Amino acid sequence: MSNNEIISVKSLKKFFGDVKAVNGISFTVNQGEVFGLLGPNGAGKTTTIKLLLGLLEPNEGEMRVFGLNPERNEVEIKRRIGYVSEEPLIFKSLTPKDLFNFVASIRGLDEINTTNLAKEYLENLDAIEYYDQLIATLSHGNKQKLQIIAAILHEPDLLILDEPIAGLDAKSVRVVKSLLELHTQRGGTVLFSTHIMEIAQDLCDRIGIINRGQMVGIGTIEELRRQANKVGASLEDVFLRLTEQDTSVNEIIQKLRASFKVKNL
Ligand SMILES: Nc1ncnc2c1ncn2[C@@H]1O[C@H](COP(=O)(O)OP(=O)(O)O)[C@@H](O)[C@H]1O
Ligand SMILES: [Mg+2]
Repeated sequence: MSNNEIISVKSLKKFFGDVKAVNGISFTVNQGEVFGLLGPNGAGKTTTIKLLLGLLEPNEGEMRVFGLNPERNEVEIKRRIGYVSEEPLIFKSLTPKDLFNFVASIRGLDEINTTNLAKEYLENLDAIEYYDQLIATLSHGNKQKLQIIAAILHEPDLLILDEPIAGLDAKSVRVVKSLLELHTQRGGTVLFSTHIMEIAQDLCDRIGIINRGQMVGIGTIEELRRQANKVGASLEDVFLRLTEQDTSVNEIIQKLRASFKVKNL
């Protein structure tokens, strides 16, 4: 393992009964990098992330996070990670204020500093008005903002975000993007998953395209274009080629054209 490899995954497999959720995935994420796992729903992104966090046990393969094995060093790894899960916040009977105090206490952070920092983030994300409101009553997007703030308060080395942008409005997306940039500028690393092309294209230094539990392409956009034999193509075209969906998409479009013509006559 080279020194700047923050995540290293080799031939990782996780099966749920007959479902091969992760079926032989390999990739590395280097320090300071924003790495995106891009794939359709059900591709295996969340399962990969949960394996890295030690929340699931793999059937086969090797993983290292900070050079450690997540199955054996879950606590040490979690100390250095900020994690934003796919499901919006679990602590529904708390207010944001309670939540941030809780995070400060379990992470051993200074309560006053943490409160100030959390409030500053809430203001930046247009959510300060909800500071004393029950989390259960907040929208998906606002819950997501709280999760993101809770994940960065301890200045983790690695941020892992599972579909973080899905429920956010345009302005908050912009703020979250700059948060991620600031995080990498201070030497932090980001792994996140998304099914949205533009997000991957905008945010990632490198992208791993996951389809049906397998990594079908990996690299910068330029490298992915070469792997798909599509020089100058959009990420969407590259994605459809690498996930072997381009032919079926074309057929669907042909059929749609035909049926629209029939109806117009
Ligand atoms: N706990 C589970 N039990 C059974 N099947 C699961 C479980 N978690 C995920 N799966 C299945 O594994 C596949 C990959 O799921 P997931 O990793 O959540 O995909 P993604 O995050 O890319 O949408 C899907 O077919 C999903 O239904
Ligand atoms: Mg998922």
